[in-house]
Amino acid sequence: MCGIVGYVGRKPVANLLIEGLKRLEYRGYDSAGIAVVTEKGLKVGRSVGRVRVLEELVQTTGGFEGFLGIAHTRWATHGSPSERNAHPHRGTSRKGDTIAVVHNGIIENYVALKKYLTDKGHVFESETDTEVLAKLIAELYDGNLEHAVQSALREVTGAYAIAVISDHEPHTLVCARKGSPLIIGIAENAYVIASDPSAIIAHTTQVLTLDDYQVARLCAGAADRASGEPWAVEFRTTTIDNVPVSRDVQELELDLQQIELGGYDHFMLKEIMEQPESIRNCLRGRIDQREAKVVLGGLNKLVRDLVRAKRFLLTAQGTAYHAGLIGEYLLQDLAKIPAQCEYASEFRYRNPIIEDGTVAVAVSQSGETADTLAALREAKERGATAIGVVNVVGSTIARDTDAGVYLHVGPEIGVASTKAFVGQVTVLTLIALYLGKRRFLSDDVVRAYLTELEKMPEHIRRVLEHSDMIHDSVARHVHRNNWLFLGRGYNYPVALEGALKLKEISYIHAEGMPAAEMKHGPIALIDEGMPVVFVATRGSQYDKVISNIQEVRARGGRVLAVATEGDDHIHQYADAVFPVPDVPEPLQPIVTVIPLQLVAYHAAVLRGLDVDKPRNLAKSVTVE
Ligand code: M6R
Repeated sequence: MCGIVGYVGRKPVANLLIEGLKRLEYRGYDSAGIAVVTEKGLKVGRSVGRVRVLEELVQTTGGFEGFLGIAHTRWATHGSPSERNAHPHRGTSRKGDTIAVVHNGIIENYVALKKYLTDKGHVFESETDTEVLAKLIAELYDGNLEHAVQSALREVTGAYAIAVISDHEPHTLVCARKGSPLIIGIAENAYVIASDPSAIIAHTTQVLTLDDYQVARLCAGAADRASGEPWAVEFRTTTIDNVPVSRDVQELELDLQQIELGGYDHFMLKEIMEQPESIRNCLRGRIDQREAKVVLGGLNKLVRDLVRAKRFLLTAQGTAYHAGLIGEYLLQDLAKIPAQCEYASEFRYRNPIIEDGTVAVAVSQSGETADTLAALREAKERGATAIGVVNVVGSTIARDTDAGVYLHVGPEIGVASTKAFVGQVTVLTLIALYLGKRRFLSDDVVRAYLTELEKMPEHIRRVLEHSDMIHDSVARHVHRNNWLFLGRGYNYPVALEGALKLKEISYIHAEGMPAAEMKHGPIALIDEGMPVVFVATRGSQYDKVISNIQEVRARGGRVLAVATEGDDHIHQYADAVFPVPDVPEPLQPIVTVIPLQLVAYHAAVLRGLDVDKPRNLAKSVTVE
């Protein structure tokens, strides 16, 4: 989704901002722009397409010399992707000062504000809601940018992370947030802000975050820039009502290496391949074999409520929803607690009934997904205890929950979620065992699962060794435009995830469903050569899945089967077999999803597509 970078300090700003935007490219965008306060006033450049197009524009047109600037990658919501809709947007004050704004989020009352501003004589050039904000700040500007931003935000409903500059205040960057993420980095003699830590980490690990409705004024500069001395940096944080608030400086837990490709062709491949290590990190310190227990410090304060819970309600979107579905099976199976997973976007609007003793679990990699956040807040308002299963430390969902468990799988840059899914399923397994042990599971049973969980990094490594073989199998079918993914029980959500992975990066139409459901309609789709991917590991429903495979074969479909290592029987039914280690059924999704991630990855590369920047997609969907 949209990305923001801003800087005020001693370094020339244009290249620094462009480098920051490149770090945000993975979030998904369609256009980009930059504004710099120069000696000749505010210089703005905007372009459609990749950041490198903007970079060329900045280099060829020149004139972007300055030390204060903001930049943006836009993912269209109001208005098509075009140069005039790209940010920054501008407004002109009554005294002729220019204000530039970049914005993530949505201004919901922009129609009324636009009419008010048009009546005041402002002329709009774009179709965006953001331009309304730029013009409103300009309308209220009387020489103090911080006050103008505060006043404007008091008039606004919606969600925003914004960065604002004015040519009248060449040392001042003002930013604010409500509902969309924004981080302020405190660098040497400078401030750098961004919607995502990956654009900050090259400059500093010291950061501040803002809460909703808070504003920061960041100043860095010298009275005489030519001499550069004395150089002063200062910041102030307030509410939009101008009440001072204090914010703690925190250490960013991220290193540059984690967000670089490290020799891989794509982030998605890197993240698939590093899963043994990321799952080892996810499990670290959480398994106590001697006591046969799971250690989840983040849940301790709520342990009594959780153990006595009458119902767990898991809520999420996309891949995280598929992990939540597996969580539903795990909580019912291992902890014997009624559980149900719902799309956050649906849950919120169906007037849900939350009985006493309901625990709402928000599952999210980014911790910023707007639908998931809204559903979580709705559940809390109706009395649920809220816990988070989140990857990004300090994200909005993590902060809005009563307790939670972080994934600790490291930053996920690839738009297609891979290691976060496996992390989410692993954490949900740990939670189910944590509760199961306190409810009725014997130490022996818990210990057996924990022993198996500890082997997962090695199991995943073994599956990854088949990457080349999976590539060759996919190559035989990649020209087909319709695929099915089928599984039963714990592997039904894995089938859904396999289909989502394939469609989002290869643009092949794919559907996932319970294997038995195929007979109730979708079987009509099967024709000669149609690829059907079965998750057909050994377990309670193995024979039934084999029957489903035969039904597909009888109609000419091509079967690609994820199967248990050593299952020779299945070879007679399948065109290709992707082996995974033999693990207990509740733990199977952690290994069975890996070949499906590789199927999607290889299909996209074989089709010549940009795996890390799939069309129309954003990494973190911060609008509903
Ligand atoms: O950050 P979240 O886990 O909340 O994101 C949820 C979905 O937007 C996300 O999983 C999306 O479906 C991915 N593109 C899947 O690969």
